[in-house]
Amino acid sequence: MIQFEQTFMNFLFHHQEKFNRTYHFLILMDAVISAAKHIQHYYLTGALKGNLGLAGEVNIQGEEVMRMDQIAHEIVIHYLKTSERVIHAVSEEEELIIPLEEKRGRYFFYFDPLDGSANVSHGLPVGFLFGIAKKNLKGTEDGHLRAGNDYIAAGMFVIPTGTFTLALREAGAWRFHVDETMNFVKPIRMILPDDTRSWELSFNEANRYTFDEKIQNWIAGNENKYSFRYLGALAGDFHRLLSNGGMFMYPAIINHPNPKKNRPQGKLRLMYEAAVVSFMCREAGGHAVDETGSPILNKKPDQPHQRTALYVGSKKLVDDIAGVLQG
Ligand code: AHG
Ligand code: MN
Ligand code: MN
Repeated sequence: MIQFEQTFMNFLFHHQEKFNRTYHFLILMDAVISAAKHIQHYYLTGALKGNLGLAGEVNIQGEEVMRMDQIAHEIVIHYLKTSERVIHAVSEEEELIIPLEEKRGRYFFYFDPLDGSANVSHGLPVGFLFGIAKKNLKGTEDGHLRAGNDYIAAGMFVIPTGTFTLALREAGAWRFHVDETMNFVKPIRMILPDDTRSWELSFNEANRYTFDEKIQNWIAGNENKYSFRYLGALAGDFHRLLSNGGMFMYPAIINHPNPKKNRPQGKLRLMYEAAVVSFMCREAGGHAVDETGSPILNKKPDQPHQRTALYVGSKKLVDDIAGVLQG
């Protein structure tokens, strides 16, 4: 018996048809899928071709090695251009906003082309994270940077694992797995589990004593209830969290013995890391807040690479820690 599964594009075509949507989003998502496959290819063959080294190094062919982050960035930009649907993009790898189809475009695309760079030299999982917002079709468009609440979709690929999760506004978070033909298939709706037995906590334990004392106390009071898991790539850590429930956090660092290493704004980037996973989490029934206990999705960015502290996961845990942060 041949086993067939619904492909991602088939799923999306039906979704757009059901909600009477245009084909523009399909064209954009087709470009996103092509980019992800291309990054996956480079990542899988990278060690052999000497692409996984540090920038500035020279490979065995004597060519200068490009960082995997840069390769991934260029791949995504190439496909966004071919879609002709993106007004401008924000990439972790480019300081300035990247203008694309300023007149005819319809979407804004915010992305981290390669999340978890520290895993690259080990060939361990990394991610490609993105959030999509839409131009104001009713009035004039000022091109401002959108808050997560204004995204229409957000997603992530875990590379080279071959999983893709896409959340569509008010239409759920869906997970796909890559099949033998390199198609993403078999939509599974992700809902965070209520059963606390599978819940996990995920944060960099080495930073623990640099957090606000309130957070340190919260950890001390809760650590024996859950397992700890930390891969060091938000995409991978959040992937687990969506299945198992619990909470991922990257709190502000305010008590570092070397004050220069404090990060009162947190480490993660709002537009293409924190808001992306927070959007997916909301669609899976969860919640996310910043260091003041306010919803991440309400935060309107002042600049493209703004950082934020992040607490994201099962609503009960995030509400609990929000209470502590507000207290
Ligand atoms: P990037 O590789 O895109 O710079 O992101 C790394 C981020 C994120 O993926 C991860 O959760 C976090 O940094 C890990 O930071 P620590 O090494 O400080 O734990
Ligand atoms: Mn990242
Ligand atoms: Mn990155």
